Amino acid sequence: MADIVNFKTDFVMEPMINVFENKQQLAKRFADFFIELAQQKDDDFFVCLSGGSTPKLFFQELASKHPETLNWNKINFFWGDERCVPPDDEQSNYGMTNENLFLPLKIKQEKIHRIRGEESPVRESSRYAEELMHYVPKNFGFPRFDLVILGLGQDGHTASIFPDQLHLLISGRLCEVATHPESGEKRITLTATVLNNAENIAFLTTGKSKAKKVSEILNQKKDFQHYPASHIRPIDGALQWFIDKEAAKQIE
Ligand code: 6PG
Repeated sequence: MADIVNFKTDFVMEPMINVFENKQQLAKRFADFFIELAQQKDDDFFVCLSGGSTPKLFFQELASKHPETLNWNKINFFWGDERCVPPDDEQSNYGMTNENLFLPLKIKQEKIHRIRGEESPVRESSRYAEELMHYVPKNFGFPRFDLVILGLGQDGHTASIFPDQLHLLISGRLCEVATHPESGEKRITLTATVLNNAENIAFLTTGKSKAKKVSEILNQKKDFQHYPASHIRPIDGALQWFIDKEAAKQIE
């Protein structure tokens, strides 16, 4: 564990921090950012999605304002994590995205690469790693997303890598089985091998409940290295934070 905690902590490139009046404005601007990024690619665009309340607003913004802005057939949807529940369970990250983005935009099934939360977690973590290797373009031999979208938990977790399971970040596998520290719920999560290999990583974080962690992570204060989100930075790419004023309140 000591090795992990002593990860090199200086960012290869300083993260860009974008602060917005509120989460509605953040969702609108991030939708524009997503569209601009996707339009820069002539061929297919590969995005790794997150669960959470802020991504949900982003999906609703895309569905309501951008049905015609983009050739949606070029977007390939994957996830950074999924709860080990059926796809129609209210806990399902896929289920939330399907309701708020895929159904409204009539996204084709073959563009949606969901983590099968209903399957055996260990078997599914291996299967999804194979799916990533099969479909996602590579860099350094590993899947490289055009964009990875992440949230930040109040405990500093991101995707489904929790502070008490920091070793999962650098497990050497593409996907791991995680356990929610309170509920004991099993989850499948991508590891830093994939997340940090992305061309663009964007954290979407809102609300005053995140202000302390955002400040500890961005100002590299106190025990910041114990928070998985602190270890997310692209090996060769750009890291951006999209946060609202509430979450930015304690940044120095
Ligand atoms: C999940 C997410 C998780 C989420 C954070 C923040 O499956 O729950 O992947 O990492 O992004 O918990 O969630 P909120 O944005 O809802 O606070």
